[in-house]
Amino acid sequence: MTQLIDGKRISKEIKDELKEKVAELKIEGKEICLAVIQVGNDPASSVYVNNKKKACAYIGIESDAYELPEDTTEEELLELVEKLNRSPKVNGILVQLPLPGHIDEDKVIRTISPDKDVDGFHPVSVGRLWIGEKGFLSCTPAGIIQLLKRSGITIDGKECVIIGRSNIVGKPMAALLLRENATVTVAHSHTKNLKEITNRADILIVAMGKKKFITADYVKEGAVVIDVGMHRDENNKLCGDVDFCQVESRVSAITPVPGGVGPMTIAMLMNNCVETVCSQEGSK
Ligand code: GUN
Repeated sequence: MTQLIDGKRISKEIKDELKEKVAELKIEGKEICLAVIQVGNDPASSVYVNNKKKACAYIGIESDAYELPEDTTEEELLELVEKLNRSPKVNGILVQLPLPGHIDEDKVIRTISPDKDVDGFHPVSVGRLWIGEKGFLSCTPAGIIQLLKRSGITIDGKECVIIGRSNIVGKPMAALLLRENATVTVAHSHTKNLKEITNRADILIVAMGKKKFITADYVKEGAVVIDVGMHRDENNKLCGDVDFCQVESRVSAITPVPGGVGPMTIAMLMNNCVETVCSQEGSK
């Protein structure tokens, strides 16, 4: 029987654990506040931001929303980030991406204090991850580690193949799997013999952004498949980078789309928000 990795259930489990922790922190007089900045009103970003605000409310974290107009200048945005960096009330800062074209995203990410970088995108957070120091972890890959662990899947010693080398998923995923003692291969758009490489994987993580690209012939029998993709199929139904119907019967475990990796990203963002209290303890 193929195990369906239930991201909805696991993310709820994590959020409920965090809710309890936040309640305990409140008793100690510690409140958590996340600043969420959105520039412009891209509909997809608005959905993500609303879901983040809802998750904060569920867990007991205050969310301060900054909804800025599309024509906000880079200077104005950087000033706001710097003000929030200095604010003792604000524990975490999240700038929803993508930003309008006239704003340099890298510059904005680098301006967020590494102590408040709950997305884990700042170069200091990335460096800490690679050298095994404590720091904020990129939320989607951290969520995938939780999906595997909480589904009873061993990572230690496994052959893991990641398809995709983005700064948000592929690269931090490689660092996290290495930290769990996996053997890691990162494949990407220039990789030759992709099928040969993916067929070696005990755990295959697909973040390539191509609708239903991974068919049964890419997957070793009994492998674990994690699908990071999110698309609309020909019937306007949500689907991933993996052709679920073809692959499901061949594997030992697989994430569905929706309800697999998706819900984990916000759960791990909430985890990072709670962690700010511990990491900022000495600096306040
Ligand atoms: N846009 C899409 N995903 C993310 C994310 O995880 N964090 C931020 N800040 N923006 C995003």
